[in-house]
Amino acid sequence: MSEATEIPREHELDTSWMDNMAEWGVTAKPGKRGLTLADVQIGSYADLPAISDNMTGRPRGSTPRAEAYRVGAYQVHTLSEIWLDNAEYLYEEALQRQWSSATDIPWHTLKPLPDDVEEAECLLCTFFNEVEFVAGDVPARWIARTTPDYLEARNVLSAQVMDEARHMDVFRKRALANGGGLMRMSGATSGFVGSIDLARDFTEMSTRLHISGEGAVLTMFRMGELFGQNDAEKTMYRLCAQDEARHVAFGVMHLRCLGDTAPERREEIECYLDEAEEQLIAGQQNPAGRQSESSEALAVLLGGGSQHYDEGHKKLLVIRRRQLKEYMKRVISAGFTDRFENGRSPIPAQYAATA
Ligand SMILES: [Fe+2]
Ligand SMILES: [Fe+2]
Repeated sequence: MSEATEIPREHELDTSWMDNMAEWGVTAKPGKRGLTLADVQIGSYADLPAISDNMTGRPRGSTPRAEAYRVGAYQVHTLSEIWLDNAEYLYEEALQRQWSSATDIPWHTLKPLPDDVEEAECLLCTFFNEVEFVAGDVPARWIARTTPDYLEARNVLSAQVMDEARHMDVFRKRALANGGGLMRMSGATSGFVGSIDLARDFTEMSTRLHISGEGAVLTMFRMGELFGQNDAEKTMYRLCAQDEARHVAFGVMHLRCLGDTAPERREEIECYLDEAEEQLIAGQQNPAGRQSESSEALAVLLGGGSQHYDEGHKKLLVIRRRQLKEYMKRVISAGFTDRFENGRSPIPAQYAATA
């Protein structure tokens, strides 16, 4: 070869990467719902390590690279710490049921409301705005702390972060769309809601966030049909409830999985539930006859105006009882029935009988 036609050395092919492939010849087939995460859980790619030593961000099933940096000191690297059955389906459902706060809410149905009703709705929207920030920020932190080997669970949490961003914005939009605006912050993030971010363990966090906090919010959103004043608000609460049900399902299924696969942690989980139930009971009680500002706003909305506050307050009490019952059903579904039968739960026995 003449000097003019010689290929410079830097352009020579180095195909050694072809000798480093992982499992080859797999052919994932789309099912009825398309090509889902469940469909690519095949062969060695479906192998979930009980304990992950992946510190390099290596995609599960790919060939390790010796010189790769340790990019993540993943705190969550034991499967039972975060796993749940059907995470892959929950993730696909989240993707398929995304909605737009800009175009899926019939904003044109908003009509001027009496001042007290508008103020109550705006106070509630301010409260939910604060709560939704926490509901997005906290899972986001735990995604980065979890080994990429458990990608299905991580992806469900990633979808939750997107859902919470939308919830935050839809309540902000409602507050600003009908002649009201944001009100004074509720301070919810200084109390129990803020304590969610202080959890040191994933399951401690998930019990506070998914089971206790979001469970209570889910019941409220489901009641939006009762306190929404127009189709825009009713649709907003209904669509948020649909997302919230998935977040709560994550917590319930994770707790069930952990209780089954790591029975040595059951007593610790019972302690998280003790804490959740003490908070729930505190929310039911009404010391010194005072309601929180968001409860007062809810009673105004449920009654249809501050002149019907007492009637609204009675409806609010029904919602509070329902929060308790729905919480108990979730805990029973997660496999922790005994606490309602052996006197451990601080929830009064009359509720246990009707859960
Ligand atoms: Fe939310
Ligand atoms: Fe949520």
